[in-house]
Amino acid sequence: MAKKNWTGKVLAAFLFDGDKTPLGMPGDEGAALVKVAAEEKFTGQPKKTALLRSAAGAQKLILAGLGKRKELEPDRVRTAAAKAVKRAEEIGAESVGLLIPDKKQAGLEPGRFAAAVVEGAILGSYRFDKYRTLKPDDPKPVAELVLLAANNRPASATLKKAVGGAVALAEAVCFTRDLVNEPSSPKPPEKLAEIASGLARKGRIAVKVLHRDDLEKLGMGGILRVGAGSHQPPCLVHLTYTPAGKSKKTVVLIGKGITFDSGGISIKPSQGMEYMKDDMAGAASVLGLFRWLGTVDLPVTVHGFAPLAENMPGGGAQKPGDVIRHYNGKTAEVISTDAEGRHLLADCLAYGSTLKPDVMIDVATLTGACVVALGEEISALLGTDQKAIDKLMSLGKAEGEFFWQLPLTERYRSQLDSKIADVKHIGKPGVAGTITAGLFLKEFVADGVPWVHIDIAGPSFTKEGWEYTPAGGTGVPVRTLAALLRSL
Ligand code: BES
Ligand code: ZN
Ligand code: MN
Repeated sequence: MAKKNWTGKVLAAFLFDGDKTPLGMPGDEGAALVKVAAEEKFTGQPKKTALLRSAAGAQKLILAGLGKRKELEPDRVRTAAAKAVKRAEEIGAESVGLLIPDKKQAGLEPGRFAAAVVEGAILGSYRFDKYRTLKPDDPKPVAELVLLAANNRPASATLKKAVGGAVALAEAVCFTRDLVNEPSSPKPPEKLAEIASGLARKGRIAVKVLHRDDLEKLGMGGILRVGAGSHQPPCLVHLTYTPAGKSKKTVVLIGKGITFDSGGISIKPSQGMEYMKDDMAGAASVLGLFRWLGTVDLPVTVHGFAPLAENMPGGGAQKPGDVIRHYNGKTAEVISTDAEGRHLLADCLAYGSTLKPDVMIDVATLTGACVVALGEEISALLGTDQKAIDKLMSLGKAEGEFFWQLPLTERYRSQLDSKIADVKHIGKPGVAGTITAGLFLKEFVADGVPWVHIDIAGPSFTKEGWEYTPAGGTGVPVRTLAALLRSL
């Protein structure tokens, strides 16, 4: 809305480091405020805020730093918005007005600026309180955010559209985070499938759940054998988004959905095993994307697969030395039942290939080796579609989700040679585990299908939290994949 029609008490505005006035504020009024803030050593540094009171004391102003003007990128805006809203929460504000500058002032289209503000504000104030008893002095979330167009102009239609789109996307990310943060026991495969089925109520989305019997008929031995050690039966969710008009492209998305990874018979050490509730983050991001797809109109067909299973060491569990037959008939020798995710993906990559997609992307918390190689904030990209890989890398940077490519080198392929099956499912212990996992997956992608594998073992979850990502499930890489789908 236009600022002159706004009567709120807490206003937030953005400041470039070194600027004389906050973005979107009249020069003389703004300059006086910036001078006061400078007394507190606040000059617009990134991640920093300053709180000022107007002379009458009736209105409070939060200034949020954007850093140097020439370094501006959308992620700076997301971070500044998140910090501003956090500060507003600390002073008990119920409503905050956020001043959106025009292009001349910020160097960024108001729509893009506003979208980044909305994303930062919503994603930064996300919390997972379901299992916590709130105390009276716990800070209450800000109930209302009002975007104010600079210079008292009414918000344009494009600005409104950008804001609506950002809200839908941020909510989809929060949906993914909720699924990841949920403890394992309340989210067995069939329960997640039920949640996925709920997504079909919106937009152009259809959903089909393949249960154990269906998977047996199809010959999806990967999903079945990995799920065999649990009382909770495995299943496969197949979501489809069909465009209203002509479909320009077909995309297949696949997300690993291990609702708990105990390692199975090759059981994991108990230290840190609680984090293995996150092993369905790939599936959760596919579901999040479909939640978002329910709100948009895109000229592409999107198939989403979420193979769901619990990796447990029950009496029926698969064992080291077993051989699994996958959907395309290819057999794999199991060395460690803890390398389970690749078998679910193998079935889906083979099945997805039959849909002749223009690009097929799988997302998985696949290897601990990826965390060793790239750390907790960077996802690995491997695959055969170099164009899509390059695109994901650059889109990711703008979204504040980070990716780096690892080579899918044939030189390591012989590590997967097996004496008794078509392939062995893991390579040499301790070396290049993310690459050999990628090479295993490649065996199940039909020739000619452009494919990208995203290993999110690091970034799917943060123990300490990042700029606008509180500790817990992060929702990576939902925003980057949404940007990719938008770009097709
Ligand atoms: N889900 C794990 C990978 C993982 C580890 C994700 C740490 C997030 C954080 C995966 O199923 C796994 O256990 N991989 C094994 C493979 C190994 C047995 C070849 C691993 O990385 O140790
Ligand atoms: Zn796993
Ligand atoms: Mn595992």
